[in-house]
Amino acid sequence: MNALHRDLARLAARIEAADAPRADADPHRQRFHIQPPVGWLNDPNGLCKIGDEYHVFYQYGPFDPEGGVKHWGHVRSRDLLHWERLPVMLYPDAPYDCHGAYSGSALWEDGALWLYYTGNVKHNGNFDYIRAGRGHNLCLGVSRDGVTLDEKHCLMTNADYPAGLTCHVRDPKVWKQDGRYYMVLGARTLEDKGVVLVLESTDRLHWTHLNTLTTPEPFGYMWECPDLFELDGQWYLAVSPQGIDCPNVYGCGYFPVYGDWRGDCTLGDFHPFDAGYDFYAPQSFLDGTRRLQFGWMAMPDAPYGTPSAAYGWNHCLTVPRVLTAGPDGTLRQNPAPELAALRCGAPVPLPCADAPVCFELTAAPAGDFTLTLAGGLALQYTENDQSAVLRFTDPTLACGRDGERRARLAAPCRSVRVLADASSAEIFLNDGETVFTTRYFPAQTARTVRLDGAAGLLYPLKGEE
Ligand code: FRU
Repeated sequence: MNALHRDLARLAARIEAADAPRADADPHRQRFHIQPPVGWLNDPNGLCKIGDEYHVFYQYGPFDPEGGVKHWGHVRSRDLLHWERLPVMLYPDAPYDCHGAYSGSALWEDGALWLYYTGNVKHNGNFDYIRAGRGHNLCLGVSRDGVTLDEKHCLMTNADYPAGLTCHVRDPKVWKQDGRYYMVLGARTLEDKGVVLVLESTDRLHWTHLNTLTTPEPFGYMWECPDLFELDGQWYLAVSPQGIDCPNVYGCGYFPVYGDWRGDCTLGDFHPFDAGYDFYAPQSFLDGTRRLQFGWMAMPDAPYGTPSAAYGWNHCLTVPRVLTAGPDGTLRQNPAPELAALRCGAPVPLPCADAPVCFELTAAPAGDFTLTLAGGLALQYTENDQSAVLRFTDPTLACGRDGERRARLAAPCRSVRVLADASSAEIFLNDGETVFTTRYFPAQTARTVRLDGAAGLLYPLKGEE
């Protein structure tokens, strides 16, 4: 352990102990979502299952609720409901990751956890930090017990990546297939085009470039946080593209991949994952035969945020969602079935004048309906054009979330499911065909839930983190 590691670990533990009571006193503190003990959270990282324990890491800025240098925060759970907080796994304490242990992924194999991540380095000087002045290093951390780090290494630097790229090459996602290891990395070319690099290895340590995936025409200038996976025989490339025309600051979605992603292939149409205000940088992993996904419930560089920085913390992840392929090949997202165990008490019919802080709502509408949470977050569905529109009718709940977010459904809306925590709503329409994810900040006294145009049930949920 180097001295910087030792001091950062002490400082992080000290600030967590000192500031946690203030964070926990926030009325908008979440009850069943993964959130940082203090400070800042962004992307989910290193999702995996070790034995019967789920491990979730996340981009963590312990010293600054507005960001700060990124560490890897860590929680684990046996049931996807109760998350045990573990010490920080990766600190920005080496020359190759000193300005952030950026996003990455995990492989559990041969009795060790292999954590691939991007070491971010910003050099002093007058640089644009896109074409010059920045190192994005491919790094590996190894932990034999899954809780403490034994060693870490820099495997590749920018000089090792293919020609024609800017310094922005990050967010390794690694998996094993047919006895080999594969990696996707998000990148920005010198022509400001978003691409994904595919790399291959036989030993987990030495990686060679195999292919570059992109669209024929530029689709944004940078593709962050790639994920490449197969569902029902179809491959999908998920990315978070920056610089595309979309309702939020950045996009987030997936392309079906036609052909072999190791060689000749094309990307099909881009499908956004989410139609709400707060969903970015999702990652998935295989849990036996099902694919689970977590997303970051926020949007980088957005002109809106949360009121929680005043309590010393910021942001959270989504609930774990099961990804499946629909009959038309588009992806469905639904809460992991384990979340049903959060239900407590008998369901009450809507409307509800005094809803609990955490609840689940289900409805089977037959036509137009409007769902209104806390008197100011409204989802309006119109059968006529099969459109669903989410908007804040009361700006005091929005913390700057402005304008509407709209989705066209592929079929009439016949099912609605909402998971609401203290300051978030995840709205699943038509069994996860369309999802709206958003933070909202109701006053404690105004937890009304109305559903006009349809009957619905509200289930109180246990509010444990
Ligand atoms: C996405 C992202 C990643 C990067 C990380 C840094 O939100 O910008 O590309 O690795 O956040 O925290």
